[in-house]
Amino acid sequence: MSRDRDGFGGTLEERAEQALAFAQGQVRALIARDPDYFPLFTEGGRWRHGKESWTNWCEGFLGGMMWIFARRTGDPIWRERAEHYSRLIEERQHDRAVHDLGFLFWSTWKRWFDLGGDPEVERRVITAGQTMGLRFNERGRYLRSFVAPESCFIDIMMNVGIVFYAAERTGNPDLHRRATEHCLTTRRYLVRGDGSTAHEGIFDPESGEFLRQATHQGWRDDSSWARGQTWALYGFGTAYRLSGDRRFLDAAQRCADFYIERTPPRGVPPNDWEQPDPPRPYETSAAAIAASGFFQLAALTDEPARAERYSAYARTILDTLLSPEFLAVETPGWEGILRHGSYHERLGLGVDESVMWGEYFFVEALDKLLGAPAVA
Ligand code: GLY
Repeated sequence: MSRDRDGFGGTLEERAEQALAFAQGQVRALIARDPDYFPLFTEGGRWRHGKESWTNWCEGFLGGMMWIFARRTGDPIWRERAEHYSRLIEERQHDRAVHDLGFLFWSTWKRWFDLGGDPEVERRVITAGQTMGLRFNERGRYLRSFVAPESCFIDIMMNVGIVFYAAERTGNPDLHRRATEHCLTTRRYLVRGDGSTAHEGIFDPESGEFLRQATHQGWRDDSSWARGQTWALYGFGTAYRLSGDRRFLDAAQRCADFYIERTPPRGVPPNDWEQPDPPRPYETSAAAIAASGFFQLAALTDEPARAERYSAYARTILDTLLSPEFLAVETPGWEGILRHGSYHERLGLGVDESVMWGEYFFVEALDKLLGAPAVA
C-alpha cells in the first residue's frame, strides 16, 4: 500500500505503529484540554458534552491506554500520567454500585502491577475482585448487574476474570466457586445453541429460577447484540486462562465462531446482527474488542488450524479499522481515535461516535498485533 498524505501506509504492522502514534496524540490532546475528565463517548466527535452516561464503567480505559503507551515507549511522562489516572479511580475498588470493576482495575492497576508494581498495587486489584464477588446471588448463581438484583449481563463475563484472580491470589475457594458458577450460569442461560448470546438474563432473585432473556442495547430480547457477543468471546477466553476450565474455552470458541459466521467479510458487525436493515452498518467498538479477543483465543486454543484462523481474522479486523473510513486520522477536528462506534442506540447515547472502550481495545489489539502478550 502506498503512503497517503498523512504518511499512513505500508504493511499492517507499519500502519499499526502509525495508528498508535496517532492514538497517543489524541489522548495527549484530550488530557491537556480536559485534565482529570473521564469521557465515555463523543458527540459530533467531541469528548466534552452534556449527555448522560447511563452508568459509570469507563473510568479505567483512559489510564489503560496510558499504561500501554508507557510500556511501549518507555516515556516517563506516560508512566506518570498512567499512575495519576489510576490513582483517580483508586476508591472504586470498593464500589458496589457497578458490575464493572474488571473494566476499571484490569486495565489500570493490573497493568501497573505487571509493569513492576509492588504488592500494594496488586492489593487494589485483589480488593476490586473481592468487591465484585459480593454481587453473587447464591440461588441464581450469578453476579448481578448494576440495573437490578434479578439481572445478569453478558458484559459481566469481562469482569469475572478479576474475581478468579482475587480468589487465586488470596487462596479463597469460595470466591473461586462464585466466579465459576457465574460463568456456568452465563453459559447455560445467555449463550445459545448456535453460539450467539443474549445481553441479559432475568432471574427470580429469591428462588433463583431463570425467567427469560432480555436486552438493553441490542435490537430485541431474542436477538444478538454484537458488543455483548464480543464481551463473551473475550471474557470466556479470560475465564479459561485464569481457571483452566475447558468448558469456558469451548464457550469462547462457540461465541467466536458465531461472530465470524455472521459478520461481513471486513470483520465489522452492525450493532445487532438480527436487526433488519440496521440503521448503521458498523459498531466498531465490538470489532476492536473482537480483534483483541481473537488474538487471545488464538494463543489459548490447542488446535493449530483454529489458532491460525482466529489470528488471521483479528488481522482482517485491524486491517479494516486502520483505513481512514474508521481511523479518525483524516477527520479534522475529530477528537477520538476510532469512528463509527455506538454506545446505546435505544437511548440515543454515543451513536456513530468514538467510544472510550472502543479506543482502549483498539489500542490493546494493535499492541498485541505488534508483539504484546495476547492473553489478558
Ligand atoms: N455497558 C457495557 C457496554 O455498553 O458494552
